[in-house]
Amino acid sequence: MKVLIVGSGGREHAIAASVAKSDRVSEIYCAPGNAGIGQIAECVPIGAMEFDKIVAFAREKEIDLTIVGMDDPLVGGLIDALEAEGLRAFGPRKNAAILEGSKAFSKDLMKKYHIPTAAYENFDDPDAALSYLETAKFPIVLKADGLALGKGVLICNTLEEARDGVKSIMMDKKFGTAGNRLVIEEFMTGREVSVLSYVDGKTIKTMTSAQDHKRAQDGDQGLNTGGMGTFSPSPFYTKEVDDFCKKYIYQPTVDAMAAEGREFKGIIFFGLMLTEDGPRVLEYNARFGDPEAQVVLPRMKNDIIEVMEACIDGTLDQVDLQFEDNAAVCVVLASEGYPVSYEKGFVIGGLEHFEDKEGYYVFHAGTKLTEQGIVTNGGRVLGVTAKGADLKQARENAYRATEWISFQNKYMRHDIGKAIDEA
Ligand code: AMP
Ligand code: GLY
Repeated sequence: MKVLIVGSGGREHAIAASVAKSDRVSEIYCAPGNAGIGQIAECVPIGAMEFDKIVAFAREKEIDLTIVGMDDPLVGGLIDALEAEGLRAFGPRKNAAILEGSKAFSKDLMKKYHIPTAAYENFDDPDAALSYLETAKFPIVLKADGLALGKGVLICNTLEEARDGVKSIMMDKKFGTAGNRLVIEEFMTGREVSVLSYVDGKTIKTMTSAQDHKRAQDGDQGLNTGGMGTFSPSPFYTKEVDDFCKKYIYQPTVDAMAAEGREFKGIIFFGLMLTEDGPRVLEYNARFGDPEAQVVLPRMKNDIIEVMEACIDGTLDQVDLQFEDNAAVCVVLASEGYPVSYEKGFVIGGLEHFEDKEGYYVFHAGTKLTEQGIVTNGGRVLGVTAKGADLKQARENAYRATEWISFQNKYMRHDIGKAIDEA
């Protein structure tokens, strides 16, 4: 069969690598893709938000399955546009992708269906938000309602900071229309865990757990980024936590969406915080995490096409989802200066070291093929993933593999997975 993947990051590279392993797949296309994806798929210069062009391409090439990896096209309704033309597509429709597209929606859903999350209020009016803050407890969390590249969350320690936050999100529109509404939420403490799951509208099957490192610098210092590295599984995600989440979070979320007439098919990513009072939902995403996908997918034993088709057909209950009994760590190689400002266009050396090395992967995030070879083309450049018998081994392997790669202004964190030493 012919598969089209929509997106251009490390996540889409990891998806493409899994798709390439399926015996059922003969051709893989990616819109727009990147230099790494181009080694296993044919990249087509169509942007992820160019719905008409994507639909036309899928029709012309007779694509059997389109996989949408990114949040913006899902929230914007790309699945609906493909289905309207009779094309098969993996991902939630627009009315279900709102689970990620509107934080106010997801908070109201959790409240209505008693799914554990932080206490909150939604605001459309900045004055109402400002007066609410007068009697609030600090720190407090402000969240722009819509998509903001993972940057729309502000943790404010003082009333002053929170006032500035309301002003920048709702009045100055720092995140554009994403800030038309604001969620003000109770601040929670605890360890964070990401759990990704496949959903077919009724049945949910969770994947192995993972943990992301969002801050730019070692010791969780510096600015928030798209993610500087991940490890999987999380040793803090115990059987007890899993049992709790299955009962009170995972299935209740799928059932709540169905009850609202918003049947969810695709990936639900649960961002969880393990608080003293038990697990709480921090956020939902309607897609694989980036870079969570880079540590979770290499450990999945199933044929990804079969699992995705089961999600579309509503037969996920018949799938026995299995993961390898090992661990993986992904270290992101970024451009020095990310996420603020950085130079790009530097030639990348050493990629060939990953060829045919079992258990080692180099997923491209921001790269481009030029006459000089493959060059850096973004803030996050590569995700170096390695497996190991356990997390410690996987971490050693991943850091060793980061040394195989060279480019000017190469930057990485040195403490990805360090938290596991405390487990
Ligand atoms: P989100 O995009 O909602 O996952 O938020 C981004 C990050 O902000 C999370 O990964 C947490 O580190 C932090 N965060 C979000 N909500 C809260 C909260 N209620 N309490 C404490 N930290 C939070
Ligand atoms: N790694 C977090 C995300 O993909 O949103």
